[in-house]
Amino acid sequence: MKNNRIAVMASGKGSNLQVILDEINRGVCPAQVELVICNKADAGAITIAKNAGVPHVKFLNPKDYDNREMFDEACADMIGEASCDWIVLAGYMRILSVAFIQRFPNKIINIHPSILPAFVGGDAVGDALKHGVKVAGCTVHLVSEDLDSGPILAQATVPVLDNDDWDSLHQRIQLEEHKLYPSTIKRLILNGFKLKDRVAIWN
Ligand code: GRF
Repeated sequence: MKNNRIAVMASGKGSNLQVILDEINRGVCPAQVELVICNKADAGAITIAKNAGVPHVKFLNPKDYDNREMFDEACADMIGEASCDWIVLAGYMRILSVAFIQRFPNKIINIHPSILPAFVGGDAVGDALKHGVKVAGCTVHLVSEDLDSGPILAQATVPVLDNDDWDSLHQRIQLEEHKLYPSTIKRLILNGFKLKDRVAIWN
């Protein structure tokens, strides 16, 4: 199959990577994870990728690079060598350099734990709780040069309950993330989209 090779970039526990791999194994998601890149040596995503037999699993230490651009260039070169069609950010906690984003136009996707454009940034769940919203959720979007602001591909909502704390709300959001991310990747591969200004329209 064409258009289905993906690189996943992750920094954390890797539950989104896990469900993507699970849905691929079940034959539901037609992607092929060729490469996983982590910027944290102890990221759960590394173990998950190795256990699943991902062909290339790389830890790159940002301290080994003079600056963000050089680190990102090393990642981009690996992605290029692995001939990946899509770059999937799954809890990747680094801001990407402009050069990296421009090298893969409209090919990088991210999942963010809010209904964008509400609550961009590093603590969307905490910010939603502080603001007192009654509905929260998650968004899959294209990565553009402005943080968490690229065209929206898919969203799912969850209720916010009066007794929620960060963990309970994040857990409820993640249940939706785990359905939304693999299903959106499937649509990217099988259908694709057009952009009309910043509006993504599924084929
Ligand atoms: C998710 O909540 C995602 O929305 C955010 O980072 C978290 C990653 O979780 N971008 P995991 O590492 O996939 O479990």
